Amino acid sequence: MKHNQVRYPIVWPTLPDFSELQSGIRAVIASGRVTVGEQVAGLEADVRARLGVSHCIAVSSGTSGLMLLLRALNLPKGSEVVTPTFTFAATAQALLWNGLKPVFCDSEPDSFTMSASAAESLITERTSAIYPVCVFGVPGDMDAYLRLADKHGLALLFDSAQGLGSSYRGTPVGNFGAGEAFSMSPTKVVTAVEGGLVTTNDGDLARRIRQMRDYGKAPDGEDMQWLGLSARMTEFNALVARWSLARIDTWVANRAAIMRRYEERLREIPGVSFQRTPPHCVSSRNYIVALFDPEISPITRDDLYERLKQDGVQTKRYFYPALHNQTLFRDIGQGCAARLPIAEKVSSSSLALPMYSHMPIDTVDYVCDRILAHSFGKETEHDVLLLIGSCGEL
Ligand SMILES: Cc1ncc(COP(=O)(O)O)c(C=O)c1O
Repeated sequence: MKHNQVRYPIVWPTLPDFSELQSGIRAVIASGRVTVGEQVAGLEADVRARLGVSHCIAVSSGTSGLMLLLRALNLPKGSEVVTPTFTFAATAQALLWNGLKPVFCDSEPDSFTMSASAAESLITERTSAIYPVCVFGVPGDMDAYLRLADKHGLALLFDSAQGLGSSYRGTPVGNFGAGEAFSMSPTKVVTAVEGGLVTTNDGDLARRIRQMRDYGKAPDGEDMQWLGLSARMTEFNALVARWSLARIDTWVANRAAIMRRYEERLREIPGVSFQRTPPHCVSSRNYIVALFDPEISPITRDDLYERLKQDGVQTKRYFYPALHNQTLFRDIGQGCAARLPIAEKVSSSSLALPMYSHMPIDTVDYVCDRILAHSFGKETEHDVLLLIGSCGEL
């Protein structure tokens, strides 16, 4: 075995066997309508039914969905938008593409979602919107965000890229604020291979975004009414997405079992804790993320990350670096660290562990064995046999 070869990937898209898609692919090709056709319309209807939301627009990616949603809201150029620093870069990149300024906000210590009280302290006369994120599938304090937006007369939109399948007090994520954008990239619970969705209960906003995913064309296809993108979804992607969405409850249940196993097995390591989902929320369980408290844990997050890499176990320091520490956002993030203590702490100690919807429990056990061995400096009999085996191949 070569050192560092990935034997246990962190994610693995759960996809249909080719035979299950074959007739659908044939029908798409025969129809000649290979993009934004019957399958895309079917996917949009499936999402509306699943989420109970009035409008859904399928797009080429989560990022293009965020860019279009922000653009369609027509926020004043150069205005400030309060968004978490503990997120994936695309959240804030969509702001930069729209000429808007991210104002990085701190997180809650247990759910890692954007803190509504910290957000309120960042609101100024230049603020136009609040833009929280569904973190690894866990929704933030929606009631507090709604109150804040209402109190200060601000737009509210969500990066729910990882939140398809999540809910808050019984309402599916996708129904909150002016609109939400989801990703269906290969790392998401529901995947289109690549793709995204925008959902909203505002008919005018939906109509604009529907035009804007196709350059901003008027329905007659001639006049350009809005600044848009080429962000359509193909029929092939929609076919995969419909297959994946139809099985979402199975995927989330499998992930729940995987997470339970990780938590049971790793609980004995001092200083290890996991992201918490508040009792009134359901998480899509897009990622399992553990914190390794550097003051208590017998191994640091970074050491463990490197050692697992040597074992062929792929993990991810996630989200890391927090956005205010990334080169792209350096000017905006400069001097922000002092007011982002929770996000700094979480980002420097969090590790996403391998998890995908069809991951065997044996694989979870192997990853746990390696983490326990590195934490306590002892190998199980099973580990020793594996290591001897792999040395033999060197
Ligand atoms: C929080 C968050 N926002 C946005 C995105 C971007 O989605 P996509 O990769 O579909 O453009 C992702 C995807 O990884 C994400 O995790």
